[in-house]
Amino acid sequence: MKKKVAIIISGGGSNMVSLVKAMQADADFPAEPVLVLSNKPEAGGLAKAEALGVKTVVVDHRPFGKDREAFEAEMNKELEAAGADIICLAGFMRITTPSFPEKWDGRMLNIHPSLLPKFKGLHPQQQALDAGEAESGCSVHVVTPELDAGPVVGQAVVPILEGDTVDELSARIMAKEHQLYPAVLRRFAAGDTSRIEM
Ligand code: GRF
Repeated sequence: MKKKVAIIISGGGSNMVSLVKAMQADADFPAEPVLVLSNKPEAGGLAKAEALGVKTVVVDHRPFGKDREAFEAEMNKELEAAGADIICLAGFMRITTPSFPEKWDGRMLNIHPSLLPKFKGLHPQQQALDAGEAESGCSVHVVTPELDAGPVVGQAVVPILEGDTVDELSARIMAKEHQLYPAVLRRFAAGDTSRIEM
């Protein structure tokens, strides 16, 4: 039986598209996309998900104000209604309470554009450039209550080239993100949590 995957986005959703296309392209992929949830009604990824035939829902965080738990309860309602087994965060730009990842313990993944544990949080590509690193990349990790700190299940490395701008580095990392996340999901959905290096 295929695992049911819900993907949570806030923006353009290019990682979401790479995940959905990978699942749809291979009848043997051990997971299928059942929902794309966005906390932003204007997220560009929503139309892309619909074009791929995936159900979408918006849970706008703004009406909930500072009440993160009520916002998360609404997301949980949608995720459960979709029957999600695995949640993939893909450019979801909200800090959550601990209870959100705790509820999905061991079943929620995130992708972050740095070689974790280096450069957590915002602007990791700029952080890597500022630190004078020779290489950077992206990491897929299991989501735990501490930001960008859960067990890493996949990592892909790119070089940092002389004179790189943040846009150039981000694009080089993004190309790897689109390969890494589907590769990790394929193994994770099959129950293999060993780490992939690319
Ligand atoms: C990616 O760089 C991802 O690593 C980070 O947010 C960005 C989302 O981009 N968490 P997209 O919406 O998937 O295009």
